Amino acid sequence: MELVIQSDAERAAWLVASLMAKALRRKPQLVLGLATGRTMEQVYSYLVHMHRKEGLDFSLCRTFNLDEYIGLPPEHPGSYRYYMNRHLFTHINIDRRNTYLPDGLAGDLPAACCRYEETIRETGGIDLQLLGIGADGHIGFNEPLSALRSRTRAVMLDPSTIAVNSTLFNQSSEMPNRALTMGVGTILDARAVLLLVTGKAKADILAKAVEGPVTSMISASALQFHPACQVIADEAAAERLLGQDHYRRAFAHDPDWQEFRNLGPIPKIAS
Ligand code: F6R
Repeated sequence: MELVIQSDAERAAWLVASLMAKALRRKPQLVLGLATGRTMEQVYSYLVHMHRKEGLDFSLCRTFNLDEYIGLPPEHPGSYRYYMNRHLFTHINIDRRNTYLPDGLAGDLPAACCRYEETIRETGGIDLQLLGIGADGHIGFNEPLSALRSRTRAVMLDPSTIAVNSTLFNQSSEMPNRALTMGVGTILDARAVLLLVTGKAKADILAKAVEGPVTSMISASALQFHPACQVIADEAAAERLLGQDHYRRAFAHDPDWQEFRNLGPIPKIAS
């Protein structure tokens, strides 16, 4: 695992978008794993900017989202399909048929989950998986006690997740308490993983996830097993990390990071 600390949330998101753009330029048929949530909004706004200003090309890439609520149609503003259309897909040149989310409306949910796994396999697997982390340590919607080898499946959301995410619904009662999510095992199968963590509220869980013991109580701790996992955090989220000095030195001197040390001014994007 590599950990990079950036001065603020904008810079952290810009670095993540730059790493994704580099992977896409190197392999236009990239299979991307995508996340939703507040943290990712900035990343997607930068990818849209790169598409518009630098011609970043998504025409051949395929995407698989981590999760989707059960029972919400795509046109519901709380659904993750709606989120992805709004923040990314409608602004870039991706073929919408190449964008996949778990089917939370399926009559047979276990069958839909198996199909999702199969479709991922048929595309050759996820090249680069983008992740955020929940306050309870979830990645995707893998709530505490998710098996470290779990696959895509239906889950009950943790009350803490419901409390945080229901504020994004017009009426909190509209928020489903179940979702489909890729499993921890599905996520660990991705060839590379990029975890973005920003804000003081995530400082405690980030330290537990990356420097604490691996435990199914904190799904993100399973990333310690991943051979190519990069964690990008801002100062606020990094404040409880014991190894800060080492992480800063590695980023400052490792030749692999050279091109990302001075990414220049970050574009101002109107929200
Ligand atoms: C959503 C997802 C979740 C979020 C996490 C953080 O697709 O995968 O794991 O990344 O809940 O959400 P925010 O960024 O809203 O704090």
